Amino acid sequence: MTVPQKRVETRIDPYVDAYASRTRGLKASAVRALFAVANRPEVVSLAGGMPNIADLPLDVVGSLVSELISTRGPQAMNYGSAQGEEPIRQQICQVMALEGIEAAADDIIISCGSQQALDLVTRTFIDPGDVILAEAPSYVGALGTFAAYQAQVVHVPMDDQGIIPEAFRQATVAARAKGRQVKFLYTIPNFNNPSGILMTLERRQALLAVARELDVLIIEDNPYGLLALDQPPLPAIRSMDHDQVIYLGSFSKTFAPGFRVGWALAPPAVLKKLVLAQESATLCPPVFSQFVISAYLSNWDWQGQIVKFRDMYRSRRDAMLRGLEDHMPDGVTWTHPKGGFFVWATLPEGLDADQLSARAASYRVAYVPGTAFYADGLGSRNMRLSYCFPTPERIYEGTRRLGEALREEMGLRATFGLVRSTKRDQSTAEIVGASHQLGGAS
Ligand SMILES: Cc1ncc(COP(=O)(O)O)c(C=O)c1O
Repeated sequence: MTVPQKRVETRIDPYVDAYASRTRGLKASAVRALFAVANRPEVVSLAGGMPNIADLPLDVVGSLVSELISTRGPQAMNYGSAQGEEPIRQQICQVMALEGIEAAADDIIISCGSQQALDLVTRTFIDPGDVILAEAPSYVGALGTFAAYQAQVVHVPMDDQGIIPEAFRQATVAARAKGRQVKFLYTIPNFNNPSGILMTLERRQALLAVARELDVLIIEDNPYGLLALDQPPLPAIRSMDHDQVIYLGSFSKTFAPGFRVGWALAPPAVLKKLVLAQESATLCPPVFSQFVISAYLSNWDWQGQIVKFRDMYRSRRDAMLRGLEDHMPDGVTWTHPKGGFFVWATLPEGLDADQLSARAASYRVAYVPGTAFYADGLGSRNMRLSYCFPTPERIYEGTRRLGEALREEMGLRATFGLVRSTKRDQSTAEIVGASHQLGGAS
């Protein structure tokens, strides 16, 4: 009788020698790793950035989908153009006009969310070792894409007005002096993820002036621009220049992310390359999703819906700011976003947001530690607190729990002595003058 062999599990990946070198820089997103804790019902999650879709007119969307299938199903469920469908590209021109952009449907390519537009742009421009300048802190998903193409990310500091143009200039000059190619500057001018900072109009103009002078492309990533909560949206940087800017937009925050429809608006020569890249990546972006969103834009008061979204997110933002005011211990500071989804908090010196997250989980509250948003280990005293998903009451309760966790941590440190973080320990308020070095690659 043969004894069945027990499969021996090894912890070593047998394929390790076969992987492409570009996979070495890839790591699980900090946000994803947190979901196991953050998704438990007893935990108030200030971690995820999920929009609150429940406030969409779901019955209306349901009827649009059903009518679409019965009237144009075979077309809507077939392959389409790699550039995306013409009608939705026309409608996107009207969406972008709200932020002062004049564009033609021909200059737009549809992508699977703006995340894929980031991927297409990065694969089109980046050879391993090329420099991408990225405002600090930056969207974790963009940093992941830049790492996947082996770019060298050099952070450019922001203050409460947005990227500091002079720091952008210095970073470009320093990289070029080292013989490096600076391929583009990445910025989220409206309600930066994670800091919530809004770049002022003057800064947009000054940044563009430096970009033109030094001939550096700007990637303007703008998923949150229409979710301005306290004032009308500012003109996009792309509205001031057609050639120096590649603009990325998305329906994820103003409609729903599950359809995965975003876009890039690029100068004609770049657009041709992006279409080729899209062809090899997906053949075409999801046709059905484009048809649904197109029908929604034609048949529903989508601008009125955005106003409703603003009211809903404003009450959540206000609940968070009230909660922080009421519950944070002395020494903690935070941004006061005028839109978007996020508040960026800075802990007193000696505290480490990565370490604190386990204690916060025991108080049943979750956030994303700041280090996720830097390519170079900064951000250990920062936390991203999102107010987009839980109800205002839960958000307020979350800040109360966070305050308790922080007080306990601070009490322990006062009793046993302050343990300094071993990492570089800077906050947004202090990142002015942060390093522009090229790290190990210099
Ligand atoms: C700044 C920024 N860019 C891009 C994205 C990707 O969005 P999507 O791919 O859903 O359009 C996000 C998502 O949260 C984001 O915050």
